[in-house]
Amino acid sequence: MSVEPDPRVVEGLDAWEGLTALQQPQWPDRAELRRVRDRLAAVPPLVFAGEADALRAQLAAASRGEAFVLQGGDCAETFAESTADNIRNKIKTILQMAVVLTYGASMPVVKMGRMAGQYAKPRSSDSETRGDVTLPAFRGDIINGYDFTPEARTPDPQRLLEAYHTSASTLNLIRAFTTGGFASLLRVHEWNRGFTTNPAYARYEEIAAEIDRAIRFMAACGADVDALSAVDFYACHEGLLLDYERPLTRIDSRTGLPYDCSAHFLWIGERTRQLDGAHVDYFSRVQNPLGVKLGPTSTGDDAIALMDRLNPKGEPGRLTFVTRMGAGKVRELLPALVEKVTADGRPVTWVCDPMHGNGITSATGYKTRRFSDVIDEVAGFFEVHRALGTVPGGLHVELTGDDVTEVLGGSEEIDDEGLARRYETLVDPRLNHQQSLEMAFRVVELLRRA
Ligand code: TRP
Ligand code: PEP
Ligand code: MN
Repeated sequence: MSVEPDPRVVEGLDAWEGLTALQQPQWPDRAELRRVRDRLAAVPPLVFAGEADALRAQLAAASRGEAFVLQGGDCAETFAESTADNIRNKIKTILQMAVVLTYGASMPVVKMGRMAGQYAKPRSSDSETRGDVTLPAFRGDIINGYDFTPEARTPDPQRLLEAYHTSASTLNLIRAFTTGGFASLLRVHEWNRGFTTNPAYARYEEIAAEIDRAIRFMAACGADVDALSAVDFYACHEGLLLDYERPLTRIDSRTGLPYDCSAHFLWIGERTRQLDGAHVDYFSRVQNPLGVKLGPTSTGDDAIALMDRLNPKGEPGRLTFVTRMGAGKVRELLPALVEKVTADGRPVTWVCDPMHGNGITSATGYKTRRFSDVIDEVAGFFEVHRALGTVPGGLHVELTGDDVTEVLGGSEEIDDEGLARRYETLVDPRLNHQQSLEMAFRVVELLRRA
């Protein structure tokens, strides 16, 4: 049976157009944008409403401490890098981290990729100047190109269509990898690509061997090991570009309610979470589970007001707060937020983003982060929640499956000079494959104590 949508609900989906939307491009050709939006409104959805509901239930479990959320992927995906190898390596990395966490902490892990849609970036400045040339800033592949030329930097609505198609092919491969045998726990060893002389890889090998034994034991006992062959894997990205999110929103025939079918989970960024802004209004009207990034300037009152707008009835799993305070501030600033939200009583899922509060510029001029700061913010996040008796529900990280050198430190001890070796990100620095695994081991230790 299908439910007819309420016309007022559908009309409300356009209310954001009358509000201030920060971080949007200046499209040179509005007529072309309109044609592209019409086209996007007619294409098949990328995800299905029921999947978003399933994720919401898993996030609700995480808010109660019955699961742990792992969100990981690039700061900015690019069309050119959306290759089979890159997608597979990222999935592998996330699966390896998930295995370490599931096994080490005996906790189900909710797996989400910052993948298949993470193409739009907020920027601190609208323009970029090199020498005496000033051009629009790079805002992500969905808007303009990275090359410093007027042609590339001019926002191009056709990129919305390319984003849709790239998301579709990425998601297709993700679904194949996560349900077609590749993600089976019988293959834990095969995901380890590193040299076992590296401490993180060696530790991983030990866990993989233990899992193998456990599976053989269970199989010998006649247990049904079907649950081990596939994983639920969800796609998420920052809901930034409303000219993309709006046309990909669909009315779910089961409920008559709107879902943003560009991804399972969308988050509102630190720079676009204004209570009276377009983003909060828009996402308040769709049914997907949502995140909001909360940086060091967030107050408890901001958090409560965001709950009033985005989850007034306090539905479990609907709202995730992704805190990103910085290692030096998390212990001081997070308690007040958590206390205020806890006193309110409506549930939220607390997730730690230890990346975005810890940016520095290296002596050699690279935008980077120290692995030790990243780890320290996660430790602070756990300490705060442990002290307050609240639930540290998950981790949100920027990572890649490759051996890039973008974040300082880790057991490979990447230093200022080392960054130059393989610094490939177009926006923020990512943990490499080995640093990601190391992070998972550290989180297991923290989860065991939580
Ligand atoms: N399906 C289970 C889960 O998602 C077990 C599982 C299969 C798994 N493959 C995995 C867990 C890869 C982590 C990583 O938890
Ligand atoms: C991001 O997640 O890439 C990002 C821009 O984060 P934030 O909104 O927290 O700065
Ligand atoms: Mn980023």
